[in-house]
Amino acid sequence: MKFSRIVGTGSYLPEKVLSNEELSKSVDTSDEWIRERTGIRQRHIVADGQYTSDLALNASLQALDAAGIHADDLDLIVLATSTPDVVFPSTASILQEKLNVRGCGAFDVQAVCAGFAYALSVADQFIKAGTCQNVLVIGAETFSRILDWTDRTTCVLFGDGAGAVVLTGGDKAGLHSTHIHADGRFQDLLHVPTGVSKQYNEMFKAQTAVQMNGQKVFKWAVREMSALAIKTLEENGLNADDVDWMVPHQANFRIIEAVASKVGVPMERVVVTVQDHGNTSAASVPLALDTAVRDGRVQPGDKILLEAFGGGFTWGSALITM
Ligand SMILES: CC(C)(COP(=O)(O)OP(=O)(O)OC[C@H]1O[C@@H](n2cnc3c(N)ncnc32)[C@H](O)[C@@H]1OP(=O)(O)O)[C@@H](O)C(=O)NCCC(=O)NCCS
Repeated sequence: MKFSRIVGTGSYLPEKVLSNEELSKSVDTSDEWIRERTGIRQRHIVADGQYTSDLALNASLQALDAAGIHADDLDLIVLATSTPDVVFPSTASILQEKLNVRGCGAFDVQAVCAGFAYALSVADQFIKAGTCQNVLVIGAETFSRILDWTDRTTCVLFGDGAGAVVLTGGDKAGLHSTHIHADGRFQDLLHVPTGVSKQYNEMFKAQTAVQMNGQKVFKWAVREMSALAIKTLEENGLNADDVDWMVPHQANFRIIEAVASKVGVPMERVVVTVQDHGNTSAASVPLALDTAVRDGRVQPGDKILLEAFGGGFTWGSALITM
């Protein structure tokens, strides 16, 4: 049996930082409100002319460098995003061109904030099946481009960024299990009402930004992520004490805390980066993972529980040995 293993991680945040203080000059909010409700202190915002594929490229180059793998040796690129550069081609194809490689498969996965869990799961199947040896998996977003910057209930929460991992096939288990779920009944609670097909309908024309019922999303996120995290541990015959690090979706500190408490992982073993970049959607889990790898918290051999939740609703998890 072949397994996949993470052999390199990388991440990138755009240069421009938008603090809560700065944001409160243009929208009716305050640093205190945002920090108390979400834990977020600042977010990063892309520059004019900088796109999702550019953020993905920076994160990917770091991950490839850390893995010691040349882009030419990639068999597949799977990129999770809800903010692609263009309608088509896929941002994965654009990234392939920016990496200056040819021929390997490249496609996008769209599962909003659970996108990286989905992309990781897809990549894992290709390696386990023996179809691919080296797969680049990225979560990259420019959410600042789909926000209504006058809507204080959403614009304070999100930011731009990218994270990437290189997966390689081998005999030793790195990814023990991945789990993905969706429930389309709840799409109206967190969505962008327009798109390619719907934009031609007059009724939806003005609704081009993220809309959310924050309280309902909060409850569902806590409930589903903690239930799935517990199921993931059970399916691997483990309990919370066996987990070295939990790397959750970075949407809101209170959601992270509530899930960790239900799963039984103390906050000292939970990677939290949301304060530095807000919710970067599909980028948030690989960004947090890379941060903890680079600052030395996550060590080779550590057991990591990843989990994420997003619009759709979609949610997913993975149990990994680094
Ligand atoms: C969005 C969220 C932070 C709001 O926190 P909350 O405690 O539920 O706050 P409420 O929505 O009840 O709003 C409370 C008050 O704050 C106000 N408010 C909302 N956003 C505000 C802001 N940015 N600044 C100041 N006040 C704000 C509301 O208008 C409301 O005022 P009112 O009582 O006068 O009507 C919270 O619901 C949340 O984090 N939800 C999950 C969001 C998420 O993570 N989504 C992505 C998942 S992938």
